[in-house]
Amino acid sequence: MVDTSGIMNMSRLLAVLFLLYCSCCATPKKPNIVFILTDDQDVVLGGMTPMTKVKKLIGSAGITFTNMFTTNPLCCPSRSSILTGNYVHNHGALNNSISGNCSSPLWQNGAEKSAFITYVKQMGYNTFFAGKYLNQYGDKDAGGVEHIPPGWDWWNGLVHNSVYYNYKLSVNGTAETHGHDYKKDYLTDLINNRAQDFLTIQHENSKPFFMMLSTPACHAPFDSAPQFMKNYTNKRAPRTASYNKHGSDKHWLVRHQVTPMKNDSVENTDDIFRKRWRTLLSVDDMVENVINTLSKKKLLNNTYIIYSSDNGYHLGQFSMPRDKRHLYEFDIRVPLLIRGPGIPAGKVIDEPVLNIDLAPTFIELSGHEVPSDVDGMSLITLLHSNLPASSRWRQDFLVEHNGEHAPDGKYPPCKNTGGLQACSPIDCSCEDAINNTYICRRTLNDTVNMMYCEFSDSESFVEMYNISKDPDQLVNIIHQVDPHIIEEQNERLEMLMICQGASCREVGPIPNFQPLHSDVE
Ligand SMILES: *[C@@H]1O[C@H](CO)[C@@H](O)[C@H](O)[C@H]1NC(C)=O
Ligand SMILES: *[C@@H]1O[C@H](CO)[C@@H](O)[C@H](O)[C@H]1NC(C)=O
Ligand SMILES: *[C@@H]1O[C@H](CO)[C@@H](O)[C@H](O)[C@H]1NC(C)=O
Ligand SMILES: *[C@@H]1O[C@H](CO)[C@@H](O)[C@H](O)[C@H]1NC(C)=O
Ligand SMILES: *[C@@H]1O[C@H](CO)[C@@H](O)[C@H](O)[C@H]1NC(C)=O
Ligand SMILES: *[C@@H]1O[C@H](CO)[C@@H](O)[C@H](O)[C@H]1NC(C)=O
Ligand SMILES: *[C@@H]1O[C@H](CO)[C@@H](O)[C@H](O)[C@H]1NC(C)=O
Ligand SMILES: *[C@@H]1O[C@H](CO)[C@@H](O)[C@H](O)[C@H]1NC(C)=O
Ligand SMILES: *[C@@H]1O[C@H](CO)[C@@H](O)[C@H](O)[C@H]1NC(C)=O
Repeated sequence: MVDTSGIMNMSRLLAVLFLLYCSCCATPKKPNIVFILTDDQDVVLGGMTPMTKVKKLIGSAGITFTNMFTTNPLCCPSRSSILTGNYVHNHGALNNSISGNCSSPLWQNGAEKSAFITYVKQMGYNTFFAGKYLNQYGDKDAGGVEHIPPGWDWWNGLVHNSVYYNYKLSVNGTAETHGHDYKKDYLTDLINNRAQDFLTIQHENSKPFFMMLSTPACHAPFDSAPQFMKNYTNKRAPRTASYNKHGSDKHWLVRHQVTPMKNDSVENTDDIFRKRWRTLLSVDDMVENVINTLSKKKLLNNTYIIYSSDNGYHLGQFSMPRDKRHLYEFDIRVPLLIRGPGIPAGKVIDEPVLNIDLAPTFIELSGHEVPSDVDGMSLITLLHSNLPASSRWRQDFLVEHNGEHAPDGKYPPCKNTGGLQACSPIDCSCEDAINNTYICRRTLNDTVNMMYCEFSDSESFVEMYNISKDPDQLVNIIHQVDPHIIEEQNERLEMLMICQGASCREVGPIPNFQPLHSDVE
């Protein structure tokens, strides 16, 4: 007998070596990314309470951020920031109108061409979008349904603003009309179903994918799925410290709210509070479904899942019946939960993070370098480790809003609402005004938690809150603080309002403020 064992051993050894070679030297597969974006979901009024599955499947399995903010509390400007990673003053989408660059032809020829998805696409990703994009998307003056934003392969874009029934979608550039049959048309479920269609054909060896699921929930008109219409019947809008209070030391629009609110208005805030939570239950189910499918397809351990919202919300705070658009915590704080490969379960991160950080995070996760003109900061260092003691995270940021206004006669039966916007027929109180235009510096670190805002109105109004002492922002301290502090705030704010790229990412406030004029005081 010829002894072949040596040869066998040799070939076995070669095989083992080859396998080792493959597993350590082949480029690791790029991660998949699933981004779930809700509409108007707050955190301050308990907006995350109904999300039991989201909190368990994303938060407890990954990171919960306790200080996530939008840099503009209005849908279209905030979404434009999410897409580009830039502050409003750098992407130019000022409000929800085409004339304010919301999905306008100028935007499409400018900022949209460098939205995060264009970089992700360059890295070989399969890309999928379903749901609300920008408020004017699909309008005939915004290129109609034929316009597919660059970078998206599978496109299911809602025409115009959030609704749940009776809408039009652009499906890969072709109009698809929907009615009011729950099974066929309920938009949150449709997003869920289309996501399942896309996931069905993904597998461990296919290209990495980026999926964005952008739900109408919990935006008006708050239509819930039939099975949730009776949930939360005994809940009512939280009576926070500022609920139904007169904001007498605040800017013009807040001072002019009807206080106390009319009973109809109070009932309306309670009704809307319940309805918003009901719409969110369908989102909770969608997230569970997506995660189950990823798990069944063995894709879950290589997929980052990010959950957030475009802006917060208020219901009765400072007697403003319902909306967003304001500088206060209830409107600017939003949820952020992230799970994914290498992220420890159950981690809590308190560093201030922003809507403009999402785009650079997605770009970096896809393996592309973050372009230097992006204003936001990639969250990757926060995701995978504790910050090295030597590196410091941002300690302040800009919040900016351009107040919307409508012509007289837009809100019957209310009279004289020119210059105002989003007026309630119940008591004719309005939620926005041309002079609700402000820039703010929000400072947040271990020792300082402040908000400083300057308005473009006829009073050059200024508001300042010491949030560590006054989390409900009941007391405007502008006339109580040392003028040196105001001068420092103003100086830093003027830098932030014109920052671009790297200057927006500069860490922290100006240390040890030096008075500009030694003769002050
Ligand atoms: C709209 O966007 C374009 C291109 O980004 C910009 O040039 C223009 O100033 C913007 N319009 C407004 C009103 O900011
Ligand atoms: C949309 O486009 C993608 C990418 O080309 C394609 O795979 C998908 O089947 C299309 N969807 C529909 C409904 O045509
Ligand atoms: C919603 O209400 C139904 C019927 O009362 C109940 O079975 C279900 O558990 C509720 N769902 C949630 C998430 O509270
Ligand atoms: C409004 O509601 C309060 C408390 O329920 C009640 O005391 C008051 O009479 C009501 N006012 C009107 C005008 O209905
Ligand atoms: C994910 O799990 C599969 C087995 O289900 C394993 O082969 C793969 O290496 C894991 N990937 C990561 C990134 O952990
Ligand atoms: C949006 O901004 C544009 C440009 O400043 C302005 O012309 C338009 O009136 C604004 N829209 C609303 C609703 O305020
Ligand atoms: C704000 O705008 C409204 C509506 O145009 C106007 O009535 C009001 O006087 C303005 N207030 C200030 C302080 O500019
Ligand atoms: C926090 O910010 C304040 C005010 O800008 C600054 O004086 C302080 O040094 C900062 N604290 C830390 C820990 O960086
Ligand atoms: C803010 O409040 C804290 C107490 O919570 C206090 O230590 C600090 O001095 C206050 N800051 C200002 C600027 O008033």
